[in-house]
Amino acid sequence: MDTISPHSYWWSDAFLQEAPTYAPLDQESRADVAIIGAGITGLTAAAHLKASGRRVVVLEAGRVGAGTTGGSTGHLEVHPDPGFRALLRDLGESGARQVTEARRQAIAQIRAWSSDASGCDFVPVPAFFYAETEDDVSLVEEEHDAARRAGVEARLVADVPLPFPCAAGLRLENQARVQITPYLRLLAALVHGDGSRVHEYSRVIQPPTEGAPCTVATARGRVVADDVIVATHSGFFGISHLDLRVAPYQSYVVAVEIADEVDDALFWDTASPYHYTRLSSSASPGTLLVGGADHKTGQGDGPSHLAALEEYVAQRFRVPRVTHRWSAELFEPADALPLIGRMPLSNHLYVASGFSGSGLTWGTAAARIISDLIAGRPNATAAWVSPSRWKPVAAASNFVQENFNIAKRFVLDRLAAHALDRMEDVPAGEGRLVRSKDRLLAAYRDPAGAVHVRSAVCPHAGCIVQWNGAERTWDCPCHGGRFAPRGERIYGPPADDLHPAPS
Ligand SMILES: Cc1cc2nc3c(=O)[nH]c(=O)nc-3n(C[C@H](O)[C@H](O)[C@H](O)COP(=O)(O)OP(=O)(O)OC[C@H]3O[C@@H](n4cnc5c(N)ncnc54)[C@H](O)[C@@H]3O)c2cc1C
Ligand code: FES
Repeated sequence: MDTISPHSYWWSDAFLQEAPTYAPLDQESRADVAIIGAGITGLTAAAHLKASGRRVVVLEAGRVGAGTTGGSTGHLEVHPDPGFRALLRDLGESGARQVTEARRQAIAQIRAWSSDASGCDFVPVPAFFYAETEDDVSLVEEEHDAARRAGVEARLVADVPLPFPCAAGLRLENQARVQITPYLRLLAALVHGDGSRVHEYSRVIQPPTEGAPCTVATARGRVVADDVIVATHSGFFGISHLDLRVAPYQSYVVAVEIADEVDDALFWDTASPYHYTRLSSSASPGTLLVGGADHKTGQGDGPSHLAALEEYVAQRFRVPRVTHRWSAELFEPADALPLIGRMPLSNHLYVASGFSGSGLTWGTAAARIISDLIAGRPNATAAWVSPSRWKPVAAASNFVQENFNIAKRFVLDRLAAHALDRMEDVPAGEGRLVRSKDRLLAAYRDPAGAVHVRSAVCPHAGCIVQWNGAERTWDCPCHGGRFAPRGERIYGPPADDLHPAPS
């Protein structure tokens, strides 16, 4: 199995080689609100805040959309990842209707903004939740009842418009698909100018400091702001309770040309983890984006998950030709809802995380919620998703313990089986853990044969990183920190690169 290309269907080599559109921050600057992260959450919040008269500065570690948003598949729908039944169980009928309405408004918001730019290819489409086997028909039927109680227009259908047999389907009306990177570029252009700014290649190098005002520092500059939104998708507050209340997962996607005709709709199945499918764009109706085969970050064998996804495709579509393969990271919350709002015990720091696989709508809703909180406006969804909410804190304790134990067990098993004793045994183009005295090193041998060695201890909270052979990264099994082969931080809660190898 090949490794995964470094970019998704939405990114071209040419785009990655272009000069940044927005210059890096290289001075001290003052803003009403500093936003860390230019994914859908950060840029949507910036657009709302600017529209309400605030000066915002958005700091992005890489290019606009370089994080999970640029690796997503652009499904816009209101179905919650754990299902409407879980939502009703946890929130009751009025709560389920409230949070579903927030996501419906998010789709309407994306439609309103994207209609000004044809490249966004926003298309209203139906969505189908389907079962392939008789055993899962009851899951679809139960979701039908729960969806209607949550206020969603839904009906059971005998025929799911896919070129393979399905035992049952639930059709949701008025969902949509979008081309996600043009949409983000549109948002960035809306934000930049008139006193507000977007800065690419401006990684924040330590958690924000709360005060009056707050400060956010990059290697070459600093922003002083009244409020700070951490829109990095995960926590970025040092070690915080937030890291324990979301669990990191990798999800895989392939773009595949097929000989079948597939309706312009969104599809996902009852499998766990589920598979999700859509047409790539209006211009390429013969190309599908199919995702799934998720595993906990740092705890799976990437190539075999990718192979399983390709096998799924090959068994269901005619003459598939894979044109793109990629993976991105998502964060599962301890209960059915994300964590959005003011950090507990804080007055000016805001966060949005735990979106599962629904972060395009949840990220858009989060931006609305946080901008309302900053402006002191009432927001009916805010209390349900507040990071200070009481019930999920209690519910989270099992989740936290389970995740921590799994991570610990995984690392111990892997160490027993895989850590090498000799640097010479690290294959070219690969990374391996190597034992040295009583320490563990993350050793990467580049294709020319030179070995690059860093400490294998994650600088966030001390877990041992694992080599991901599909993407050529070091991934942390505890809270999802990810690092390049030579140790540079790529994503997740750690603020630092992997440290130099101890002498
Ligand atoms: C494979 C896959 C497919 C998905 N498909 C869908 C879908 O079809 N529909 C849907 O609703 N959801 C989908 N999701 C989930 C959704 O993509 C995410 O929840 C959402 O994009 C998160 O957006 P965000 O803006 O919060 O985070 P991100 O898009 O990750 O943005 C965070 C940004 O912060 C930047 N950053 C991080 N640290 C720093 C720092 N220290 N300094 C400066 N910048 C920093 C990152 O570079 C990044 O650009 C999918 C997820 C995956 C993994
Ligand atoms: S990401 Fe938390 S210990 Fe690595």
